[in-house]
Amino acid sequence: MENAKERLAQAVKEAEEIVYSYLPAEEGHQKTIFEAMNYSVKAGGKRLRPILMREVYRLFGGQGKEIEPLMAAIEMIHTSSLIHDDLPCMDNDKYRRGKKTTWVAYGYDMAVLAGDALLIYAIETAVKAFAMTPDAAKVGRCIQILSEKTGIYGMIGGQTVDVELTNQPIPKDKLDFIYRLKTGALLEASMVIGAVMAGASEAECGTVERMAAAIGLAFQIQDDILDVTSSQEVLGKPVLSDEKNNKTTYVTLEGIEKSKHDVKQLSETAVDILYSLPGKNEFLEELIEMLVSREK
Ligand code: IPE
Ligand code: IPE
Ligand code: MG
Ligand code: MG
Ligand code: MG
Repeated sequence: MENAKERLAQAVKEAEEIVYSYLPAEEGHQKTIFEAMNYSVKAGGKRLRPILMREVYRLFGGQGKEIEPLMAAIEMIHTSSLIHDDLPCMDNDKYRRGKKTTWVAYGYDMAVLAGDALLIYAIETAVKAFAMTPDAAKVGRCIQILSEKTGIYGMIGGQTVDVELTNQPIPKDKLDFIYRLKTGALLEASMVIGAVMAGASEAECGTVERMAAAIGLAFQIQDDILDVTSSQEVLGKPVLSDEKNNKTTYVTLEGIEKSKHDVKQLSETAVDILYSLPGKNEFLEELIEMLVSREK
């Protein structure tokens, strides 16, 4: 596991170098938007989505730099979702990734714009993969996946139901729907894009999507657990945010023990699905296992 941690630290470093290399220069009359975008992306974070993307790409034998703009794009989209999630009209949180949230640092107006900006700049960035690959069609497919999993049938759709049902009891099936979309969809996009770019078959991409869905659900349940059991120092974001907003979560619905149990079971399911795929990626397996015990 120590070895796995070192590999993760190295992967984070590499992912950050790639993501940062696609960020805009802070110059020109609209400098403020560049600063707000870069502030949020550079604030830190686990960089899990670009890392998972590249590891799935490697699992299917991918080796090129063509994956890099897509790694940057997914982290930009994810960061945009966090900027908007923290706004006063949504979760109203003041800390993220160990720093003041974008709206606290740059104002509500600039935070809305920075979230919008990152969302569309992600597409501008992803498009750069066209010039880096011999197979342009697969980049087109990835941009379709990226848009679909971000939009109304993905993260934004999930956030809609999450926000709408604040202050209300939510039945289990609806909560599963919210988690599958608000969190699962971007993890699915990350991993399926890795597979598509490496030339995996339709059936293999479907299997990767199922694996990512299990990881996504486990990831959000663990996020709910940490909201109750962790501290702001460790998480870099406020704890008890869900309680403050009177949210129904997996923990309020199922209790902490069942939640922990389900995270473990879902991660085992994900590893089983990984085994069913051709190829081998030990680090990817370690990553999935680390998600169960993650403390932030
Ligand atoms: C937080 O995502 C939002 C959820 C989907 C639970 P992460 O826990 O991946 O946040 P960062 O990127 O590490 O800050
Ligand atoms: C948000 O879920 C998931 C997103 C799409 C941003 P949460 O509201 O639980 O995420 P955190 O806890 O603020 O990171
Ligand atoms: Mg939220
Ligand atoms: Mg939140
Ligand atoms: Mg949360």
